[in-house]
Amino acid sequence: MSQQIDYNDRPWLDPDAEPFIKVQSVSKHFGDFTAVDSVDLEIYKGELFCLLGGSGCGKTTLLRMLAGFETPSSGSILIDGINMTDVPPYERPVNMMFQSYALFPHMTVENNVAYGLKRDGVAKMEIAQRVEEMLAMVELTQFRKRKPHQLSGGQRQRVALARALIKQPKMLLLDEPLAALDKRLREQTQYELMNLQEKLGVTFVVVTHDQEEAMTLSTRIAVMDVGRFQQIGTPTEIYEFPNSRLVANFIGNANMFEGRVSENGTDHVVVESKDPACNFYIDHGMSIQEGSKVWVAVRPEKIKISKQPPGETSTNSIKGMVGDIGYLGGTSTYRVLIGDQRIVEITSPNLNRPKDGNPPIDWDEEVYLSWEPSSPVVLTK
Ligand SMILES: Nc1ncnc2c1ncn2[C@@H]1O[C@H](COP(=O)(O)OP(=O)(O)OP(=O)(O)O)[C@@H](O)[C@H]1O
Ligand SMILES: [Mg+2]
Repeated sequence: MSQQIDYNDRPWLDPDAEPFIKVQSVSKHFGDFTAVDSVDLEIYKGELFCLLGGSGCGKTTLLRMLAGFETPSSGSILIDGINMTDVPPYERPVNMMFQSYALFPHMTVENNVAYGLKRDGVAKMEIAQRVEEMLAMVELTQFRKRKPHQLSGGQRQRVALARALIKQPKMLLLDEPLAALDKRLREQTQYELMNLQEKLGVTFVVVTHDQEEAMTLSTRIAVMDVGRFQQIGTPTEIYEFPNSRLVANFIGNANMFEGRVSENGTDHVVVESKDPACNFYIDHGMSIQEGSKVWVAVRPEKIKISKQPPGETSTNSIKGMVGDIGYLGGTSTYRVLIGDQRIVEITSPNLNRPKDGNPPIDWDEEVYLSWEPSSPVVLTK
């Protein structure tokens, strides 16, 4: 029996689902500079979609076009089936939370949250009730009379979130929502954001340049580079099956080896790398012409490090010397020198507490690195 796909969790796989947002060949030029370069994108209801990319790659510009603060130079944007070309920001079913939260400094927390509803002329009673609910949801009830400067970064972030959500948009655009928070608060807030999103069923589009954040939050991620999408996929797809060296290096760490395909079998390929000398036997489905130049990416956690040689050493194994060890408590990172130049990084969980305080593998020791045939990814660009 074939496995049933749960389309509620993964609507993008449902052939009958209509995307909530459809971006079609959208470009944005500023003078002769191209900030967004002919992108296509479909986002479905209830998704928490991340735009991930380095500084200046066009994330904010794309978000601003979705919100209506910027007009595409070409292409079209449909939201909920309606072409947004002539729809002004305040008539779109979206709300945007800006990169800097842009709270009103002279207003209290509750007035900041109430602002959008007041401006829309909502009745006083209703405003009071909705503000109450919103403050309770983001756990700010006790700070309602404070002004923004009397709040922590995380609390300010929650005010901005409450202010954006109170108008019950169908879609919320968040530009670097957690950038101002320290690591611990950031992680905590990531989960809060996910819970909130699930509770409200609002579609979130989140911009971030933090790959861990994107991995934690998203249903899907679009990796962006100089105005274009390099890859769109679930966090697992992007991490385990990057489509290019750029994506492999951008998301997590990858050891990259250049080589040539020396064997193109029906169920495997062999890639021969010269520097370092190593044969990669890769057993997952791909067909690449013999002789082609490719890159093999192997994630640090998928490499085994050991003082004993693995059973078979002609493929999927290299010998080296430990150059550096980074002890992180739960895991250790080994930087292993192969030959004179090449460094391969391995992360390994510290499963056992060393009895005599000595690490199981020490600096300058000779070690064997090995990996499973399913671990390497072959990249052609
Ligand atoms: N109004 C503008 N006029 C001219 N150039 C602009 C304008 N707005 C953005 N740009 C340029 O477009 C490019 C993309 O900018 P954008 O703000 O979208 O980047 P970003 O991906 O959000 O970066 P960051 O992570 O630093 O916020 C940048 O090179 C920027 O300088
Ligand atoms: Mg930006």
